[in-house]
Amino acid sequence: MKKVLILYGTRYGSTEEISQELAKVLEDNDIETQLINLETSKKSDIPSLDEFDGILLGSGIQIGKWTKNARKFVKKYADELKSKENMLGVFVSCGDGGNPEKREQAKNNYIKKVIEPYNINAGMLEAFGGVLDLTEDSKLGGFSKKMLMMAAKEDPNIKPNDKNDLRDWDRITGFGKKFSDLINK
Ligand SMILES: Cc1cc2nc3c(=O)[nH]c(=O)nc-3n(C[C@H](O)[C@H](O)[C@H](O)COP(=O)(O)O)c2cc1C
Repeated sequence: MKKVLILYGTRYGSTEEISQELAKVLEDNDIETQLINLETSKKSDIPSLDEFDGILLGSGIQIGKWTKNARKFVKKYADELKSKENMLGVFVSCGDGGNPEKREQAKNNYIKKVIEPYNINAGMLEAFGGVLDLTEDSKLGGFSKKMLMMAAKEDPNIKPNDKNDLRDWDRITGFGKKFSDLINK
């Protein structure tokens, strides 16, 4: 059975839910998966990448940046990721990924600009929409919420007092299926 390691950085959980959905799609396609939350795992929890036929790496975006631990992971494992780049999928969960007009730019700014300095060209990369939670129950701090409220003023797709879940699950499962085909080829 083929094996894929899915590592992700998340601040508010949307990238975790995307990663879990991708794991489900891969499992449905007879691929064994292991999920690693880079924010809560210890370095020693990260298995050797050599054990895996493919790697999926994702991060949420805040003010243009991956989570600190996801950035650290790329830096530390750059050579191994490079050697597996044909079987590497990189994705982000972000506001711009939910907007078809901004998606290409999101792929460039939030993925290519992060991995290309290490000479890594991922076999697959995608920018998915995220969650911009402006409800009263939002876990966002006051400052973050204010920033999103400002973005909402400029973008009619972001609504105040709404959860603004911009994730398109068909696109996410489609990506998972395509990645499964790549691994099972
Ligand atoms: C303070 C703040 C800043 C953000 N900055 C950006 C940004 O620069 N570009 C973008 O596309 N999305 C931005 N977002 C949207 C997040 O990427 C989105 O909420 C995503 O789902 C976060 O992923 P996570 O839940 O896995 O942490 C921002 C969100 C917050 C709260």
